Amino acid sequence: MDLKQYVTIVPDFPKPGIQFKDITTIMDKGEVYKYATDQIVNYAREKKIDVVVGPEARGFIIGCPVAYALGVGFVPVRKEGKLPREVIRVEYGLEYGKDVLTMHKDAIKPGQRVLITDDLLATGGTIEATIKLVEQLGGVVAGIAFLIELTYLEGREKLKGYDILTLMQF
Ligand code: PRP
Ligand code: MG
Repeated sequence: MDLKQYVTIVPDFPKPGIQFKDITTIMDKGEVYKYATDQIVNYAREKKIDVVVGPEARGFIIGCPVAYALGVGFVPVRKEGKLPREVIRVEYGLEYGKDVLTMHKDAIKPGQRVLITDDLLATGGTIEATIKLVEQLGGVVAGIAFLIELTYLEGREKLKGYDILTLMQF
């Protein structure tokens, strides 16, 4: 299946000059969403994953069906103030300013093999921060899977040394 034909390119969203890659036109078609999810599930099987981790919000859309298919748990990474119990936190850089990602302190056990999922690899900042959270708890990042990679932003450079799957490149 050619997944790219189901991504809708939206010009000038959220601001002028940005060509937004809208994946909702993958998700709203059962067969297409399943096909994309299955590619990541197969990858995760090879990597012998114990748990899936994804950053809000779009990382949930990719990661939760993968965790369900594998019969493993899903751990949410969230913006500060959203998780109810004790968290660990990492600051990460955005285009303008900083933000914070958090994870429950007891979410991952040392040595667990983790798959990180998200919809899009752009600069890599979100996933770099997510890796820090996983590794602080002793998790082993066994693979990272995205639907889309924006190759011209060279996010892979930030994630050197990690195994990465991307289903589409723009
Ligand atoms: C988008 C996207 C990735 C991230 C990629 O998330 O879903 O998580 O940006 O960019 P990066 O590689 O430069 O870090 P966003 O922060 O817009 O939030 P959302 O998932 O809640 O929509
Ligand atoms: Mg996101």
